[in-house]
Amino acid sequence: MTHTLSVLLCLGLCLGQRMRAEADTLPRPSLRAENGSLVPLGRSVILRCQGSVEADDYILEKDHGSRRIQIMDAKPSGIEGEFHIPGVTAKHAGTYYCSYLHSSGWSEHSDPLELVVTGVYDPSSLSALPSSMVASGHNVTFLCQSQRWYDRSALYKNGEQITQGRAQHHLRGSLANFSIPAVNSTHRGTYRCYNFYSYFPYVWSAPSSPLVLWVTVPGTSKDDHLPQNPGNLQVLTSSPPTQTGARRRVRRITESSYLTSGQARRGH
Ligand SMILES: *[C@@H]1O[C@H](CO)[C@@H](O)[C@H](O)[C@H]1NC(C)=O
Ligand SMILES: *[C@@H]1O[C@H](CO)[C@@H](O)[C@H](O)[C@H]1NC(C)=O
Ligand SMILES: *[C@@H]1O[C@H](CO)[C@@H](O)[C@H](O)[C@H]1NC(C)=O
Ligand SMILES: *[C@@H]1O[C@H](CO)[C@@H](O)[C@H](O)[C@H]1NC(C)=O
Repeated sequence: MTHTLSVLLCLGLCLGQRMRAEADTLPRPSLRAENGSLVPLGRSVILRCQGSVEADDYILEKDHGSRRIQIMDAKPSGIEGEFHIPGVTAKHAGTYYCSYLHSSGWSEHSDPLELVVTGVYDPSSLSALPSSMVASGHNVTFLCQSQRWYDRSALYKNGEQITQGRAQHHLRGSLANFSIPAVNSTHRGTYRCYNFYSYFPYVWSAPSSPLVLWVTVPGTSKDDHLPQNPGNLQVLTSSPPTQTGARRRVRRITESSYLTSGQARRGH
């Protein structure tokens, strides 16, 4: 091998290696929804992709069946790319990823962001058995009940998801129950439930009305978190949705009417 050839060969190989090394040190982007990943129908949402100062362009992709399609792109501002979705519809629900373009290629993908659109169906009603006021150490069961036949239910406490579970056929609707075997003071809080269909897991009902769980601690004179009027338990339990007359029809969600803004720019 001549000297020139080996120099050329090294130029190519070494340059390739250096570029790969640079790409490795560029941060992996992270994607988040500005006000949380539960977005009420019709509300606007901003997805922020945090990448690198070296980013030239950000793209947002979404799982669509077995494919991933590009939804939007955005010019960098600071170390972020910002994607505005004005007025979410059920079609915006799903799994998103972002990545960015820089001088030596594409960054890695972010972790997935699961965007859930709520309020597509009527709210369910949440209640607690035996009551929403329980003594520490006792069992409590949350019942999320609906007049529609859902098969999944999610329970939230203070805005955070606690668990998801199966909903069962009950009367002409569905019922999910979530049991907490031995409550303690950490279970105090405001609970809400949502229902949905497992075959369309990111399109949810409106939240139930809030239910406040009070945990009393035996042996203490009073629970300092108790309401002014603890005798009136009625105010503590959520009531079923009232606007039965104004019930919205289930929307048919067709995957084919999916939002796309052109073909994906890159294969996977
Ligand atoms: C996010 O929440 C803040 C504060 O509540 C609000 O001002 C802002 O408009 C919300 N952003 C979106 C995209 O809804
Ligand atoms: C809680 O439930 C378990 C079984 O689910 C039962 O064995 C236990 O006695 C219950 N505890 C109370 C305090 O009711
Ligand atoms: C909760 O669900 C379990 C399992 O389906 C069932 O055995 C139990 O009776 C239910 N509890 C209530 C209070 O509905
Ligand atoms: C309350 O119960 C949970 C389990 O349900 C447990 O992880 C936690 O440590 C308990 N907290 C206290 C203060 O006992």
